Amino acid sequence: MLACRQLSKTYRTGRGDVAAVVDLDLEVEAGRYAAVIGRSGSGKSSLMAMIGGLSRPSAGTVTIDGTDIWGLGDDALARFRNGRIGFVFQFASLLPTLRLVDNVALPAMLGGVRDSAGTYDKASALLARMGLGDYLDAYPSEISAGEQRRAAIARALINDPALLLADEPTSDLDEQTEIEIMDELLGVNRELGTTLILVTHNLALAEQAEQIVHIANGALVA
Ligand SMILES: Nc1ncnc2c1ncn2[C@@H]1O[C@H](COP(=O)(O)OP(=O)(O)OP(=O)(O)O)[C@@H](O)[C@H]1O
Ligand SMILES: [Mg+2]
Repeated sequence: MLACRQLSKTYRTGRGDVAAVVDLDLEVEAGRYAAVIGRSGSGKSSLMAMIGGLSRPSAGTVTIDGTDIWGLGDDALARFRNGRIGFVFQFASLLPTLRLVDNVALPAMLGGVRDSAGTYDKASALLARMGLGDYLDAYPSEISAGEQRRAAIARALINDPALLLADEPTSDLDEQTEIEIMDELLGVNRELGTTLILVTHNLALAEQAEQIVHIANGALVA
């Protein structure tokens, strides 16, 4: 479902060029859980941003379900990203002025759904699945960091993505909350068949993965 070929990312900075990802080849099969591990600065987030259509590669290709995503025009890429890829970031990324249910429904509304009642039903059901059924009308500031992360997972799932990308979604949370949120992500992977690529520093979490992608200095470690 995912293929990266000769993928590279070089940042141009005042201090010179930084080669964050170098000629990286990677395949992940549909429905898999793949864990990305590696030291800080090894290029994990840079890789995820290219896979997710957020940061243009300096060289190479990213193909998702047969689509060369960086070959798409800007509008087509935005539509592809919104419709096919879900993201969960490390820190809260919910919009503070919207209720949880609005935050979760938003990517579907942006996609131009006609059935807004159906979308809100689905947003409510996803929040309930994440244990937030009583918080539909709450604002992000009224819930805990762990609950915000659950809401972000619900939002990432509203458009039934084929691919769920999570970049250290639990690293700032306590151990028990981390386990609970990982259970939600793995449940999505197993029950909905969503391909999951997770960046983590937690080796116990990585060991549960069907595929481990170990990165050092922007390249795969065999
Ligand atoms: N926007 C940027 N501009 C310049 N250099 C960058 C930028 N983003 C990342 N880098 C550099 O690219 C390299 C890889 O960074 P990246 O964020 O991908 O690492 P990471 O593996 O995600 O690290 P961490 O585990 O700390 O999140 C680092 O040397 C970093 O300093
Ligand atoms: Mg990172």
